[in-house]
Amino acid sequence: MTFKDREIQELQEVGLKEIRAAANPEVLEGLRVKYLGRKGALTQILRSLGQMDPQARRRLGQEANTVKQTLEEALAQALAAIKEAARRAAGPVLDVTLPGRRHPRGRLHPLTQVNREVCDIFLHLGFETVEGPEVELDYYNFEALNIPADHPARDMQDTFYFNDRVLLRTHTSPMQIRVMEKRQPPVRVIAPGRVYRRDSDLTHTPMFHQVEGLLVDKGVTFADLKGVLTAFLHEMFGPEVGVRFRPSYFPFTEPSAEVDIECVICRGEGCRVCKVTGWLEVLGSGMVHPAVFEAVGYDPEVYNGFAFGLGIERIAMLKYGIDDIRLFFENDLRFLRQF
Ligand code: FA5
Repeated sequence: MTFKDREIQELQEVGLKEIRAAANPEVLEGLRVKYLGRKGALTQILRSLGQMDPQARRRLGQEANTVKQTLEEALAQALAAIKEAARRAAGPVLDVTLPGRRHPRGRLHPLTQVNREVCDIFLHLGFETVEGPEVELDYYNFEALNIPADHPARDMQDTFYFNDRVLLRTHTSPMQIRVMEKRQPPVRVIAPGRVYRRDSDLTHTPMFHQVEGLLVDKGVTFADLKGVLTAFLHEMFGPEVGVRFRPSYFPFTEPSAEVDIECVICRGEGCRVCKVTGWLEVLGSGMVHPAVFEAVGYDPEVYNGFAFGLGIERIAMLKYGIDDIRLFFENDLRFLRQF
């Protein structure tokens, strides 16, 4: 190794040491000038090669170029490291002009909203809310409601049975019996809840929601029934909506009536939801049958009353103009977000 070789090697060693020890970009720039600048140490060495023989000149030239590259890389690395350290020291970048993050907010299911609205209207009409079991005894669902074992009316509601005695309630009417067994008149209650039937199409689902109503006192007439239900429907759908009472049959009421409101989807013109009749049935009702009073020990000679059962899904469909009941249960967020 010649004197020049050693000189070049040393220059690299010292240079690297200094570059690595540099604390800021200004010092680095100074080192770049010191070693690689036009008057820098390496340039001096290269210049001094002019007097050497061509072979030594080429070898030392290559060596000097390698050192030059090494120092350039070290300078670039050191500069990047200094910048990165400065950025870290400044803490995380906080851009206060960025838009805030939105937190998705849940909301009440449309059926819950309608259920609450219905209960609220009846609360203002003086009705108290009660609740009862969905797994029910045959006795409460049928027997005590004047629907004995072989009664054809059992076919009106296709039932899910657990066994001979236990079933999923097909309506909220068993709550009439449960309430009257425990209380003496006057009674004024509503009982919202889930009910179950083997039933499925555009306007029927196997599980749906009803609200039962029961009012028992002395001197209650059919006019009271009409008055309360009309007041409810006008509160729910507006005073201009058409309401009609249609004679019907339920074993636990006599006389009985089904109540329709004008189909708000087609405005009475006829569509697939109202089966082209212009009307949609929303509830069943009637004067409590004497046999029901006897089952709970009320004297039918002293007391009378009315009862009704309305379908929450039907009310919700009419209120929001929905033409397929199954949408309520598919949990499609695009549907639910509209309410
Ligand atoms: C009854 O369930 C009687 N318990 C109502 C009653 C109570 C009458 C008290 C007299 C006295 P009905 O089967 O018609 O009746 O059902 C009542 C309401 O529930 C219907 O008007 C309708 O709005 C709704 N409904 C009935 N079946 C379904 C179903 N499968 N899907 C959605 N809603 C239904």
